[in-house]
Amino acid sequence: MQIYDFDACETVPTLGYGGRAGRKIAIMHEGAPWLLKFPESTRLFPGRDKTGHHLPSYTTSPLSEYVGSHVYEALGIPVHRTRLGRREGKTVVACKDFATEDRLVDFAALKNTVSEGILESGNSSSGDGELLADALRVIEDAEALAPVREEARERFWDMFVVDALILNNDRNNGNWGLLVKRFSVELAPVFDNGNAFFNKRNPSLTRQRLESDDLVSQDIRASRSFFKSDADHHIHPLSFIAKGQHPECNAAVLRIAERLSAGAADAVFAMIDELPEEAFGLPVAPPEYRELYRRTLDLTIRDHLLPAAEKAGQ
Ligand SMILES: Nc1ncnc2c1ncn2[C@@H]1O[C@H](COP(=O)(O)OP(=O)(O)O)[C@@H](O)[C@H]1O
Ligand SMILES: [Mg+2]
Repeated sequence: MQIYDFDACETVPTLGYGGRAGRKIAIMHEGAPWLLKFPESTRLFPGRDKTGHHLPSYTTSPLSEYVGSHVYEALGIPVHRTRLGRREGKTVVACKDFATEDRLVDFAALKNTVSEGILESGNSSSGDGELLADALRVIEDAEALAPVREEARERFWDMFVVDALILNNDRNNGNWGLLVKRFSVELAPVFDNGNAFFNKRNPSLTRQRLESDDLVSQDIRASRSFFKSDADHHIHPLSFIAKGQHPECNAAVLRIAERLSAGAADAVFAMIDELPEEAFGLPVAPPEYRELYRRTLDLTIRDHLLPAAEKAGQ
């Protein structure tokens, strides 16, 4: 795989991007604007000043974004295009801007359009989580989703399952939405997978947790969703999936499991094997991170997704 040198690319200063996880700029690359995401410094993160903390100096979010997005791609789910590269002495991820001609209306904005009375927690969105029941309610009620409602329902559950697979705990209300075109609307491709695979763990803790499958399994099971079952509890997506109580979740589990067996899993492991350890003298994908991706994906598929698919298919 190619690691790109983005240092010479012109910036597009008027294209700004929100989000809360670090510096972002727009650059011109191969004739089109791409969003460059830099790794976020953990300098001001809570706990960083304590001895024995497990934070790296920078999050591994560009690598998480690349690997997570390529898992979506291998599964045939529309996702933004991503490339790894260097800019200003950092390993960054470039995400092709999918909204240059269109307007991205995120789920938080869609949520604001439905009447407050039908939502248990009202309209306001927070970074702390979203009630699953409210999210499902917005999908059924938001007028803007009318032309793509069926697809939005499927996308929601596909993301729920794939995020569980890549351990992405941040599908917050700013991290998915609708693309409003001049005469039509469609779902935006999946974007922001920067929180996949424990992106705030340093290499030494990563190595320690890889010492046995039990430890990896424990970490996988502990993974939480952005979505909540009630005000105080985040959902553990893998136990939610295992219960098999939600028909649309079951359908997504079957869809994803089928694609994994039909070649997507092989494509994902091949993509991980291709990640270079370093490029331009900078670390890109240190071996412990590659091993973490392989082991977590392997165990999540084998111990959680395939058994859930078997149960759902009965
Ligand atoms: N590929 C893309 N094309 C266009 N806009 C994007 C793309 N990826 C992200 N964005 C926009 O930029 C914002 C910030 O990006 P995001 O990846 O969510 O960053 P963060 O990790 O800081 O939340 C998103 O909320 C979205 O509005
Ligand atoms: Mg975001």
